[in-house]
Amino acid sequence: MNSEIRNIKQIKDDRGRLFAIEAGKDTPFEIKRVYCLFDLNSSPRGFHAHKKLKQLMICIKGSVEVILDDGINAKNIVRLDSPETALFIKPGLWREMHNFSTDCIILVFASEHYDDDDYIRSYSDFLIWKKG
Ligand code: TYD
Repeated sequence: MNSEIRNIKQIKDDRGRLFAIEAGKDTPFEIKRVYCLFDLNSSPRGFHAHKKLKQLMICIKGSVEVILDDGINAKNIVRLDSPETALFIKPGLWREMHNFSTDCIILVFASEHYDDDDYIRSYSDFLIWKKG
């Protein structure tokens, strides 16, 4: 499966916690874009794959279930519920996000600027693209 869980070092003291993400160290790519998903409801999101984009996803508050599907033989469900854990998603994976908690906030670091042409939004097109 083209994804992996990475641990994010937390710096804790009696004032609270922080963590840092450094491009090329904590992400296996240079960061070109950061975006955030918040004010989420019960509507699932995602339902696409990326041809080239690499992403590191951190659920900094609440929880979410991420389905990752390589279109060939592996379909994983990953529950993210801690800022101590990051999900690295390589290109070529169909992803869906389900069951957001009402307080869920997701931070995503991405290897490319936003590019609509990098998206595959139909599952059948995704399977064809994988075979090609
Ligand atoms: P989309 O990636 O489809 O969201 P999700 O996978 O979470 O369901 O993006 C939703 C909309 O936001 C779409 O119109 C494109 C736009 N968008 C940007 O303009 N910039 C970005 O960096 C992202 C991620 C999305």
